[in-house]
Amino acid sequence: MNKLYNNKIRLLLVDDEEGFRMTIAKRLGKRGFVPVQASSGEECLNILGKELLDVVVLDVKMPGISGIDTLKAIKQVYKKVQVILLTGNIAVSDGIDGIKSGAFDYLTKPVEIDHLVNKIKQAFEMTRLEQEKHEQRKYRAKLEKKMIDTERLVSLGTLSTGIAHEINNPLAIINESAGFMKQVISAPEMSKYPLKEKLLMGIEKIEKSIKRARKITHQLLGHVKKQESQFCEVNLKELLCETLGLLKKELEQKNITVTRKIYDEKNILWSDPYQIRQILMNLLNNAIHAVEQNGSIILSMCEVNDNIIFEIKDNGFGIPKENLGKIFDPFFTTKSFDEGTGLGLFVVHKLLTNLKGEIEVKSILSKGTSFIIKLPRGFESEEVVKQ
Ligand SMILES: Nc1ncnc2c1ncn2[C@@H]1O[C@H](COP(=O)(O)OP(=O)(O)O)[C@@H](O)[C@H]1O
Ligand SMILES: [Mg+2]
Repeated sequence: MNKLYNNKIRLLLVDDEEGFRMTIAKRLGKRGFVPVQASSGEECLNILGKELLDVVVLDVKMPGISGIDTLKAIKQVYKKVQVILLTGNIAVSDGIDGIKSGAFDYLTKPVEIDHLVNKIKQAFEMTRLEQEKHEQRKYRAKLEKKMIDTERLVSLGTLSTGIAHEINNPLAIINESAGFMKQVISAPEMSKYPLKEKLLMGIEKIEKSIKRARKITHQLLGHVKKQESQFCEVNLKELLCETLGLLKKELEQKNITVTRKIYDEKNILWSDPYQIRQILMNLLNNAIHAVEQNGSIILSMCEVNDNIIFEIKDNGFGIPKENLGKIFDPFFTTKSFDEGTGLGLFVVHKLLTNLKGEIEVKSILSKGTSFIIKLPRGFESEEVVKQ
């Protein structure tokens, strides 16, 4: 390990004997270390409160807070910092006490500088390994949660498609019967029937509820109907223009500015255009709903490692933190009964799973929301496309 590496270890040297401290600091400096210095336990804790440090070399015998008490305080608050104790050669028991209180190791004075350098490097290596382990644990936990969420949503997706299919048939029968009843009640010979108006109102309620139930089944089955659609070359830029065209009326009504930032011209992918359009529609509909009059929606697209990354960013009301984990769940909605079904994002997630894509959401309350989609280009290589 070279001086450059030593330079990266953030080191604190604590000793009340100024002469000794300076000599050690100078010698460490020659080996590439840049130690911060403190002359007491109090000063040491003060510095740790302000600066991020990796290793503390700490004298045990100091006036004021003793080295061992300083060590205990460090380990209580800054668990990741490693401490190497410096003890007098007649006070080995201090070193053992220190290890019990969480010190990485101890060295007896007078200190052999090479020995100290090695210890500092070992202590730092320990910090690094622990940090790595911590990162790995965090990453694994995140991955596991994502897998569980995806599995849950996929099985809910299969279940809900099945239910939607089953509900469509009785729904059609109810609709037909309601229509028949309306026809009968509206006939001239029924004009004197005293409950006619009440019956018509009842039928209207039935019809309204059928409409709502249909909206739900259509959303769930929208893409299923198109299943005959096959994978083909999709020009995402064109598809986006087409989808924006379908939403023209809503965009104009709210006077929303749509900005397109297309960073790559290679926006062709091998995928299912119907499913992608549905994804864009659902996300754009949400963005339109989230922004105020004169709001803005920014659409960006670029290619990274054979994936197309697509972002839909709005400056709308944003999503509260506590809702971020729920928005992909079926029937989760913050909209009124007439406005939302809570199925838009659930379907988006489901379609993206079909297309081997991914989605991520970032949101700041009152500032806006951004949905980032990753879709594989689906071509083995550029040559295959050109053939
Ligand atoms: N762009 C967005 N800005 C703010 N909130 C959003 C946005 N997109 C989705 N949401 C939140 O996620 C919920 C679920 O969305 P979705 O599944 O499309 O169902 P719906 O639009 O029918 O409510 C919405 O009700 C809303 O609370
Ligand atoms: Mg929606």
